[in-house]
Amino acid sequence: MKSLIRRIPKAELHLHIEGTLEPELMMKLAQRNGIEIPYTSVDEIRHAYDFSDLQSFLDIYYAGAQVLIEEQDFYDLTWGYLERAATDNVRHVEIFFDPQTHTARSIDFCTVINGICSALQDGESRLGITFELIMCFLRHLSAADAMATLEEALPHKNRIRAVGLDSSEVGHPPAKFAEVFDRARDEGFLTVAHAGEEGPPEYIWEALDLLKVERIDHGVRSLEDPALVERLAKDQTPLTVCPLSNIKLGVFKSLQEHNLKKLLDAGLCVTINSDDPAYFGGYIGENFLQTQQALNLSADDIHALAKNAFTASFLSDEDKKRHIAEIDQIMS
Ligand code: ADE
Ligand code: ZN
Repeated sequence: MKSLIRRIPKAELHLHIEGTLEPELMMKLAQRNGIEIPYTSVDEIRHAYDFSDLQSFLDIYYAGAQVLIEEQDFYDLTWGYLERAATDNVRHVEIFFDPQTHTARSIDFCTVINGICSALQDGESRLGITFELIMCFLRHLSAADAMATLEEALPHKNRIRAVGLDSSEVGHPPAKFAEVFDRARDEGFLTVAHAGEEGPPEYIWEALDLLKVERIDHGVRSLEDPALVERLAKDQTPLTVCPLSNIKLGVFKSLQEHNLKKLLDAGLCVTINSDDPAYFGGYIGENFLQTQQALNLSADDIHALAKNAFTASFLSDEDKKRHIAEIDQIMS
């Protein structure tokens, strides 16, 4: 099973590029840019990663992102992730970036997107990993701030496939961003949103009905609402589930108690992703492996999860077919 999981072609659809900032790179960039961080060693940084919930993680995650200043920093961050992803046989990535985390510190939008995109292009030519970029709005900030960010992104429309919604969920329902998402869809962006990670099933309904999302990021709390499960199953709306993240942030007490297998068995289009791997202790391969072991997933489950990720991606039907045929061949 271990070798199968390593070899199976993967698509990663829920990955915050700022969440791939490994402690080693954080220290290096802090020194390179003369930024003070409240840690003196890599070990000290790792020790600080003891989270009780989403907010306790976000506080440390936003603080860590302060070391990202120059275009080269965003390049190094993204390239580091892609090299790591290649070892997990990741073939396609749809990555999130949070421009507001950077523009609020007077880092230019172009600096951020140019660095990320140059690395993604190198990743495609040198590692064979295709990509899409998803711009997330920070939901703890205002809808007006999100709208201004959308305006700022318009000149870069050809490089951003979709918009998403992340950060502190409870108290910031999708409805708050209905107008921003209407405008984004009018401009041709696809939409996704984090919902049902810590927030209630109502937030998932809002993401579907008001934001008209293509996928729900997380969505694990959908299981509390049978009518919602029926809707998600009928429409085959994908859920980008992040098992190790859910454990580190206390959404489930242990991986053995995670509801991923129940979601799969309910007929939902479930995918496995790493969310913020530098903070949660595992990249996509490790998420597959630990979840398989904890929930005793069968080879058929792994096969379905791997295929779901390509089905749920923004790739063309032809590319999806090609990747899925390769998965089928490995599993046969
Ligand atoms: N930003 C980065 N990781 C996140 C998560 N798991 N939930 C919400 N916002 C995030
Ligand atoms: Zn996330």
